[in-house]
Amino acid sequence: MSIKDAYTRWSETYDVDPNRTRDLDAEVTREWLGGRRFRSILEIGCGTGKNTAFLTTVADRVTAVDFSPGMLQQAEAKAEASGFADRVEFGAVDVAKPWPFAAAQYDLLVCNLVLEHIADLRFVFAEATRCLLPRGEFFACELHPFRQYEGTVANFSRNGETTTVAAFVHHLSAFWQAAAASGFALTRFDERWHGDDAGRPPRLAAFLLRLRSE
Ligand SMILES: C[S@@+](CC[C@H](N)C(=O)[O-])C[C@H]1O[C@@H](n2cnc3c(N)ncnc32)[C@H](O)[C@@H]1O
Repeated sequence: MSIKDAYTRWSETYDVDPNRTRDLDAEVTREWLGGRRFRSILEIGCGTGKNTAFLTTVADRVTAVDFSPGMLQQAEAKAEASGFADRVEFGAVDVAKPWPFAAAQYDLLVCNLVLEHIADLRFVFAEATRCLLPRGEFFACELHPFRQYEGTVANFSRNGETTTVAAFVHHLSAFWQAAAASGFALTRFDERWHGDDAGRPPRLAAFLLRLRSE
């Protein structure tokens, strides 16, 4: 099953299935971006809008995109039901292909649990640089590659059948190299564990990058 189809299938239960990675990611995102203020955020791979609702509280304008129709449908329904639909524009975009956004529009790009599904990190960072304003920032929180080596893959179960979603291993060095090649400097980095992760490798890698001035 393609990554897009898998996520559309998963979308119906993504928010309610037990998922420590999803929950820890929500915690880290609120911890790092809460209390800050942005004019315009571009969220790539927004999924069901788990973080989109929060992002509308820290930005004047949010554009949230995903390539899964099912995920977008959930996100749009959540925005209507939770009253943040007027502060977000959703779009169907495959971020592995050229992005349909004008240059220099956003002051923050947000990406949570998406890059493991993208083969070419350098392409994403290059598009991010093009779409960000000067000194723009890129926040990403991703499944830690150590977990992938342990065998963790995005997966969900339906009627007793487990579906795994295809993923690529990107080492931490690959993130740095791709980010640096597109003009980013690292401003904050952390590795995070869920409370139930004692004795295990880190579950998430979070990083905040800023475009270097010329
Ligand atoms: C694990 S979910 C994370 C969703 C959300 N960011 C969150 O933290 O809950 C990964 C999301 O990335 C999306 N995705 C994966 N590859 C993509 C691509 N090439 N273009 C756009 N979205 C993509 C999937 O459809 C899915 O919604």
